Amino acid sequence: MTNERIRALLASNPGQASEEEYGLVRGVVAELAPCNLLVFGVGRDSSLWIDTNAEGRTVFVEDVKKWADYAREHVDRITVLGVHYWTRRFMWSFLRFVPSALYMRSLPRDVLDTDWDVILVDAPRGTRWYRRGRMMSIYTASVLAKRARGRVFVHDCHRTTEAECSDAFLGEDHLVREVDTMRYYAFG
Ligand SMILES: C[S@@+](CC[C@H](N)C(=O)[O-])C[C@H]1O[C@@H](n2cnc3c(N)ncnc32)[C@H](O)[C@@H]1O
Repeated sequence: MTNERIRALLASNPGQASEEEYGLVRGVVAELAPCNLLVFGVGRDSSLWIDTNAEGRTVFVEDVKKWADYAREHVDRITVLGVHYWTRRFMWSFLRFVPSALYMRSLPRDVLDTDWDVILVDAPRGTRWYRRGRMMSIYTASVLAKRARGRVFVHDCHRTTEAECSDAFLGEDHLVREVDTMRYYAFG
């Protein structure tokens, strides 16, 4: 059933994660559920995470209004927090030296205070040099996961910025697995 669901998602959502990448995240969330799950980025995959963690708490963070609206309209039981990322991907070369500037202090206190068991970083967009890039979401995920002894998934690590940022803030010592472009880190 779950594999069928992932295959249906792939058919309706081309160009996003692979079957193996969705499967890796789904397996860990299912094992820990009910748990606290924080997801950077909504999309056609959102209901998969809500349903896998049906009895737990799942919160999404999204910066693009069109996609936040899409999720609120189409995904049952979704909680989407609007957020603003002030970075651009090309800033990574110097932002790497001031990581605390990347902490997302504007997230609600309750989100920053929660011990998230799993954090999935698949946003903001980072496909071009002028896009926001994932420096803020990866750094914030690293702070929250280290405190909670949680797990972090970072998607699109074939891109230099995501890979370097994950190396810098999550660290090779905590890398459990890499499937296609999805990295899985654990701090517990
Ligand atoms: C890599 S996408 C997130 C994809 C989502 N996790 C998935 O697997 O379908 C990053 C951002 O692009 C936007 N987005 C979501 N789904 C999208 C899609 N199917 N095509 C283009 N952009 C999408 C949202 O603003 C999202 O935060």
